[in-house]
Amino acid sequence: MDWVYIEDLSKNVGKEVELRGWVYHRRSSGKIHFLVLRDGTGIAQAVIFKGDVSPEIFEIAERISLESSVIVRGTVREDKRSPGGYEVGVKELELVHQSEDYPIQPKEHGVDFLLSHRHLWLRSIKQNAIMRIRDEVIKACRNFLDQRGFVMLDAPIFTPSACEGTSTLFQTDYFGTPAFLTQSGQLYMEAGAMALGRVYCFGPCFRAEKSKTRRHLTEFWMLEPEAAWFRLKDVMDLAEDLIVAIVERVLEKKRNELKTLERDISRLELIKKPFPRISYEDALKLLAEKGKPLEWGQDFGGDEETLISQSFSQPVMIHHYPAEIKAFYMARDEHRPELALGVDILASEGYGEIVGGGEREWRYDVLLKRIEEYKLPKGAFDWYLDLRRYGSVPHAGFGLGLERTVAWICGTHHIRETIPFPRMLERIYP
Ligand code: 4AD
Ligand code: MG
Repeated sequence: MDWVYIEDLSKNVGKEVELRGWVYHRRSSGKIHFLVLRDGTGIAQAVIFKGDVSPEIFEIAERISLESSVIVRGTVREDKRSPGGYEVGVKELELVHQSEDYPIQPKEHGVDFLLSHRHLWLRSIKQNAIMRIRDEVIKACRNFLDQRGFVMLDAPIFTPSACEGTSTLFQTDYFGTPAFLTQSGQLYMEAGAMALGRVYCFGPCFRAEKSKTRRHLTEFWMLEPEAAWFRLKDVMDLAEDLIVAIVERVLEKKRNELKTLERDISRLELIKKPFPRISYEDALKLLAEKGKPLEWGQDFGGDEETLISQSFSQPVMIHHYPAEIKAFYMARDEHRPELALGVDILASEGYGEIVGGGEREWRYDVLLKRIEEYKLPKGAFDWYLDLRRYGSVPHAGFGLGLERTVAWICGTHHIRETIPFPRMLERIYP
């Protein structure tokens, strides 16, 4: 008898198969036990009828506890009413391990409790759906950049310098000298772009975010393409195409998971080019109209992002921010040097910023001045300045936050559920 995964039951209707999994739910009525099994690929109902199995097997089914691991053998039937749409009429049942009382019960638990049991919480159907969508988003990103001729180039995790401001650095002791966990692979991708033309990295980034919000993790994953000769418009076009490609692929391949999450799929089906492109100053006008005015020069907080992103059915691209609220490396507008040639993309439905990027300052003297103005240690940036000494060219790139993108696509309010083991202020367990 062949061992099959639940996701392949549809191809095995009428056949005898073996399933290996865990008891997800159970219900009994005298002569019959229904065990809903999960095996990581889906759920299916195992039906144990008193007349079909030995007394020993029926007795096992009677006392088997939730999350016990089992092997069952029997015949596959299609059954629209049963969870998952298929059931197995059981002939044999092996109890591999009788689970102790499982701490996560079908009743509602507080999120703190669930996060403390994240290693078990991951087994739930909804978490399974989120993790599979996360996996699909990653595949979409890599596939898209591959097709666009980008070369994947890994950035280091230990770094000597700050990329995104010194206030969120995690410091480590690197054989007696301080080193920092990377906040972004960008600076290394700039070196890569000068070597390979178009590159990207995809890896974990670390930021000591001291505020608790639904959009911040201290460890998150970022996809960062960078290309020589690209300008602001080129990265805006690239990011727009990437986001459309991600949403299309998830809609195509992960529809069941979106349904499990009760995601309003019609909102995702709207995601098409072109995305609205507005300047920072346009965004200020919009906020004033909505009754939440902000002074020129101030950055958007969570509330402003939510308000702006709720005003559009597409993700919205906001460009030309005041330079003083952006990073040291950003190129500035020739005619209005107080503006940075940067872009942020806010996802629709109030999800806020998922992408940040733009053109980089490529002139040696100006960049050196910026490093001084931002009071960054020049020594740590000598190698970065070298890129402006040996055949410098205009270039641009962006970073797409994986968890925020997954949260938007899944419709999960807080990004903590979009990474297997979230790290946040006050949480590093499990
Ligand atoms: O806007 P950020 O800070 O941009 C950069 O780091 C650039 N160096 C990227 C580049 O141009 N190569 O971060 C980019 C994205 C944000 O838009 C957000 O999606 C995500 O990274 N991000 C976070 N996600 C979760 N938790 C955090 N604490 C995050 N900080 C940034
Ligand atoms: Mg940003």
